[in-house]
Amino acid sequence: MYFYHNDFRDRSRAVVHWRCRRTPHPLPRSGPESAMNHPKPVDWNPTSWQAKTASQQPVYSDAASVDRVVTELSKLPPLVTSWEVETLKTQLGQAARGETFLLQGGDCAESFDDCDSAAITSKLKILLQMSLVLVHGTKKKVVRVGRIAGQYAKPRSASNESRGDVTLPSYRGDLVNRSGFTSDDRKPDPDLMLRGYERAGLTLNFIRALGEGGFADLHHPEYWDLSFVRDSATAQEYDLIVQNIRDSIQFMEAILDTNMSSVRRAHFYTSHEGLALLYEQCQTRQVPHRTGWYNLSTHLPWIGKRTASIDGAHVEYFRGIRNPIGVKIGGDTSAEQLVALLEVLHPDDEPGRLMLIHRLGAKNVQDKLPALVRAVQSTGKTVLWCCDPMHGNTETLPSGVKTRRFNNILRELTDSFRVHDSLGSILGGVHFELTGEDVTECIGGAGGLDEAGLKRAYRSTVDPRLNYEQALEMAMLIAKHLTT
Ligand code: PEP
Ligand code: CO
Repeated sequence: MYFYHNDFRDRSRAVVHWRCRRTPHPLPRSGPESAMNHPKPVDWNPTSWQAKTASQQPVYSDAASVDRVVTELSKLPPLVTSWEVETLKTQLGQAARGETFLLQGGDCAESFDDCDSAAITSKLKILLQMSLVLVHGTKKKVVRVGRIAGQYAKPRSASNESRGDVTLPSYRGDLVNRSGFTSDDRKPDPDLMLRGYERAGLTLNFIRALGEGGFADLHHPEYWDLSFVRDSATAQEYDLIVQNIRDSIQFMEAILDTNMSSVRRAHFYTSHEGLALLYEQCQTRQVPHRTGWYNLSTHLPWIGKRTASIDGAHVEYFRGIRNPIGVKIGGDTSAEQLVALLEVLHPDDEPGRLMLIHRLGAKNVQDKLPALVRAVQSTGKTVLWCCDPMHGNTETLPSGVKTRRFNNILRELTDSFRVHDSLGSILGGVHFELTGEDVTECIGGAGGLDEAGLKRAYRSTVDPRLNYEQALEMAMLIAKHLTT
């Protein structure tokens, strides 16, 4: 049997640590030190996590195939660059201080099948529209991050799934195995890491081209229109905002006799949960003229709630990379855990390094958030607080359908802003599970989607997402909340 300890509860199972026979990453290069002098983590390298307990990892049966994939993936070019990663870190540092605002969104899980132009463009369109509404309302720069181009692995509460008398390994996302219920489908396949890297590369290539070209041009926001809600009240309000912005650009261009070329481009960054550590390890690189190691599979990798154990493999891996990182925190995260995580992951208080994503649920925010904010304040360090108002508000209806209510999502957000404000803290960003498509997965919003209406276009196989109209309305309500 090849590798991995699947779960902390499985301590009795033999842990066979996978070790590379070849060094799976470039050797350290020498070069001038980077301007920022942050001490290098002690006793760390991209494979040091392998000496720790790694939860939520696949059990591969064919060592030679894993070896081959790791070698290949470690050699392929990175998906993002250290310049982009450092620029994002600077911008997240600004968001932590309330100078900019972070908008993050995407699917709960991306599937390889959804790597198509319609799904990618509609996601970019809604993120662009939401950011426009937020910029217009708050007069702050908005940093856009898509949880995209790598969100292919999901943590599972059980290692196996049983149907009738058949028990098979759980589906862990397209990066690991397949969702069909046959033993072939569920067998973890290391080649899927290569397929995931390729899909991520194709997705990013398209995102970059759209961001650089005419698509994102603020002179032509009609390119981002999603036609199916033209006559709703939300769409009309949005049209007014767009008209306003267009007028302002025309006014500035006329008065300055110039063409504002910077509004022709839009920058998108990417994030994903860095769950499958072999995949992350292979893209962990050193680059000339900088010290330290970068995860170049994404700009902003996250640690999940189930993998944030202080002595686990994920925290070990993340402590050594130079990227900004996100950590999900919930109602069961204690103040002590949070302080310990800050010591390991944010030792020198580097601006923009650490984002804490709280997902407490509308019912719990007022009770639970203050202790978490105070715990961070007690360290004297600055983090970027980001509210994920989706995951604490998931409910299962009597019909068995998983949904979330627009009003609970909004309430968690507005209460979070209030709690941070009242404690002299700053909520610098939000994360939504959303899609630019006309799905019916969350209840409520101005469109009045009710329980019966969920059937029409419920497509998510994981968590329910805000649809286009609900996401845009949410952005308008946040903008209003931030300006009153
Ligand atoms: C998620 O982040 O989309 C998610 C489902 O997280 P978790 O499994 O940690 O609740
Ligand atoms: Co989710």
